[in-house]
Amino acid sequence: MADPNPRILPYGTAAIAEAAARIAHGECVAVPTETVYGLAADARNAAAVAGIYAAKGRPAFNPLIVHVADLAAAEGLAVFDAEARDLAARFWPGPLTLVLPLRGDAGIASLVTAGLSTIALRVPRHRAMQALLAASGRPLAAPSANASNALSPTRAAHVAASLGNRVPLVIDDGGCEAGLESTIVAGRTILRPGPIAAADFPFAMARRQHDAAITAPGQLATHYAPAKPLRLDATAAAPDEWLIGHDSIRGDDMLSASGDLVEAAARLFDALHRADASDRAGIAVAPVPDEGLGEAINDRLRRAAHR
Ligand code: TXA
Ligand code: MG
Repeated sequence: MADPNPRILPYGTAAIAEAAARIAHGECVAVPTETVYGLAADARNAAAVAGIYAAKGRPAFNPLIVHVADLAAAEGLAVFDAEARDLAARFWPGPLTLVLPLRGDAGIASLVTAGLSTIALRVPRHRAMQALLAASGRPLAAPSANASNALSPTRAAHVAASLGNRVPLVIDDGGCEAGLESTIVAGRTILRPGPIAAADFPFAMARRQHDAAITAPGQLATHYAPAKPLRLDATAAAPDEWLIGHDSIRGDDMLSASGDLVEAAARLFDALHRADASDRAGIAVAPVPDEGLGEAINDRLRRAAHR
C-alpha cells in the first residue's frame, strides 16, 4: 500500500521549475508524456537512476528509455544511421523509441542501459515532458510511473495511488493521449508494439517473437552479462578470481563499502564491466541481502552467473 499525499502540482512554470530543481538534486519526478506518466531522473546520475528502481520497487533491472529534447540531443548519445534518422524525422517528437548503439562519450549511467552497448531513445511530444527536458537540460531516464506489476498510469491520480510519497512530486497535466507505452524499434524489428503500428513504418517491420533467443551480439540482446564465469555469495576470492566486494567483504572492487543498496545498484554494471576487463580468469561477487534493491541486484547477478 502506497503512502498517502504525494505533492501534486498542475503543469505550469512553477511545477516545471520545482521538477527541474529536484532532478538536478538527483531526485525523481513524475511527469506526463503523450503515452503514459513517466518517473523521470537524470540519466547521467547513477544514484538518481537507482532511486527510480527503489521508488517503483522493481525486482529486476531492465534497461530504461532515455528521453531527450530533440534529434540533436539524441545524436549526442547514440550512433544514428540513415534509416534511424528517417524514422526520427517521421515520428519525433512522438511515441517512438529507437534502440541504437550507445556513443562511448555519452556519459549515461550504466544502470540506465543495464550495462548494454545500446541505448533506447525517445523525443516525447507532450508539453510537460518537453518543458522539463528544456528546463533541466539533461537526458531523462523514465519508465512508467507505477509500482512494479501495477497498471501504467495515465493520470496524476494513478501515479499518486501507486507510488504515494515515494515520488516527491507529480506534475498533473490531465490524461495521457495514447495511454499505451511507446513503440520500441531496433533496426527493422519492433521490440514492443505501441501507438505507432507496424503498418505506419516506411518499410516492412519484423516482430520479435515472444520467446525468441537473443540473436547476433549487440543486436537485440536485452541483457548484459560478463563473458567470464561468475560465482555468487563469495566471501573470498579463489586463485585467479576478481572479487567484487560488498559491505564487510572487501574485494578488488566494491559494490558499496557501507552496504548501501542504492550505491550498490548504481555501481553494479560498471563493476561487472571492470571485472570482465581485469586480468583474472573468473569473477566472484560477495553476498548482497535480498531486500529492497538487493532483490533486483541479485536477480541480475543470478542471470549473469547462469548463462
Ligand atoms: O512510452 C514510454 O516509452 C514510457 C514513457 C514514460 O515515455 N516509458 C517507458 O519506459 O515505457 P521503460 O523504461 O519502462 O521502457 C523500457 C523498455 C523495456 O521493455 C526494455 O527492455 C526496453 O525498453 N529497452 C530499453 N533499452 C533497451 C535496449 N538497449 N535494448 C533493447 N530494449 C531496450
Ligand atoms: Mg512500465
